[in-house]
Amino acid sequence: THRDQDRTLETRGGEPIALGTPTLPAVPGAFRNTPDTDLSTPANQAWAETITHRIRASTLGEEEVRAARIETVEGVRSMIARAVEAQRAWSALPASRRAQVLRRAAGTLAAHRADLLEVMASETGKTFEQGDPEISEAIDFALYYAEQAEQLDREEDVAFAPRRLTLVTPPWNFPVAIPTGGTLAALVTGSAVIMKPAPQSRRCGALIGRLLHEAGVPEGVLTLVDVPENEVGRALIADPRIDQLILTGGSDTAEMFASWRPELRILAETSGKNSIIVTPHADLDLAAHDVATSAFGHAGQKCSAASLVITVGSVSDSRRFSAQLADAVLSLHVGEPTDPTVQMGPVIEQPGEKLASGLSELGDGETWLSRPRQLDKSGRLFSPGVRAGVEEGSAFHLTEYFGPVLGMIHAETLEDAVRIQNGTAYGLTAGLHSLDPAEIAWWTEHVEAGNLYVNRGITGAIVQRQPFGGWKRSAIGQTSKAGGPNYLVHLMDAADAGTAL
Ligand code: ALA
Repeated sequence: THRDQDRTLETRGGEPIALGTPTLPAVPGAFRNTPDTDLSTPANQAWAETITHRIRASTLGEEEVRAARIETVEGVRSMIARAVEAQRAWSALPASRRAQVLRRAAGTLAAHRADLLEVMASETGKTFEQGDPEISEAIDFALYYAEQAEQLDREEDVAFAPRRLTLVTPPWNFPVAIPTGGTLAALVTGSAVIMKPAPQSRRCGALIGRLLHEAGVPEGVLTLVDVPENEVGRALIADPRIDQLILTGGSDTAEMFASWRPELRILAETSGKNSIIVTPHADLDLAAHDVATSAFGHAGQKCSAASLVITVGSVSDSRRFSAQLADAVLSLHVGEPTDPTVQMGPVIEQPGEKLASGLSELGDGETWLSRPRQLDKSGRLFSPGVRAGVEEGSAFHLTEYFGPVLGMIHAETLEDAVRIQNGTAYGLTAGLHSLDPAEIAWWTEHVEAGNLYVNRGITGAIVQRQPFGGWKRSAIGQTSKAGGPNYLVHLMDAADAGTAL
């Protein structure tokens, strides 16, 4: 059963998150989320404009990537030996000293916001609108885990020992927040970290590695590596000195690593096939907007993205909602991130077989509400696709495509809709649009997913406020969530009081 797993529920309303000029909280013990840059002010637009000119010729991180390259199994082994050696002095430091390094890292990341936007746009096509909150999230992870580590250190009746060596393998779709979060969480517990960025976002990972070293993380305690995906890469995962793996990526990759080394502790946040239910009691204008942004932000390349909207009863019949959704989708500004007003950028690489079929082949009974069209020669830029008439149990219902295509499924009742929503192998994010408290309560009780969102979009979890992690095939070994309480404890071992952290 997944009932005893942690999860997060967020409804629209509550404390608004302040927007404005980036600032850092000065007082330890008073974690506050870092505001995103308000890209609507003329001053910030001028700032963003200067960054756009640097995107095409950007070489940030290249030097560090070259330095991180290891081509041989022996090279991997000696790098691991250095990390093991460096970890001793690191774990002997008081927790407060490590927390202080994380706070400095928050400052360093904040000071390099422009560089991080540049490298994300240049290497992965991420727009500023999508990339800027990711930098805020990375800063939040640093400040939040620093505070968590200090709190844990103050608890007198519990003790935890760090694990010696943590391998962090982040994805390319959140190439700043996820590597930073996993790395800093493990570091603050006293573990050494080897971070291997995804091949598509090496420069992002390398820049983060450099910034964390600049902030005071010793060499060896954090090692950035780039290894080929052959026996050299395998030697890294398979080395028994690696105590744990923090992985964000596809379920298949996580399951493959688990099969290579069954005893390896894996915390994996993996795939999703997420949907938003829209009932006749919804505010349809709001629902259309939230479905469009959740489906097409970062061209749908988020594990949290909505790739299905399940319309209940009269919402499907009236056609009003589909017309609103089509309007919302077609008005998205698609283009390259060198234009700061672009809302949906390119996909990471030319679509592979699976995404290509999601963008072109219709299943039985399906029609295009908005047909995805290739907009550039490189084959990476697509207009958003919406297919109507998706059937329960069909390929589109069950498959994660990870790109700019959304399906609409009709359900007779809310009960049917929840059965469809729960009917995939995954359970990461789930949304409901309804203004009826009874529907909201019933849905919350019955939906099977880690992060639940009511009357709002289903992406962009915020540290502390929406700890993030999935159920079912969306996770391995993850019973506490990133950016939430107990995450650090989950990375450590229980120890005798007085001997640890
Ligand atoms: N944490 C990311 C989100 O919530 C994946 O969208």
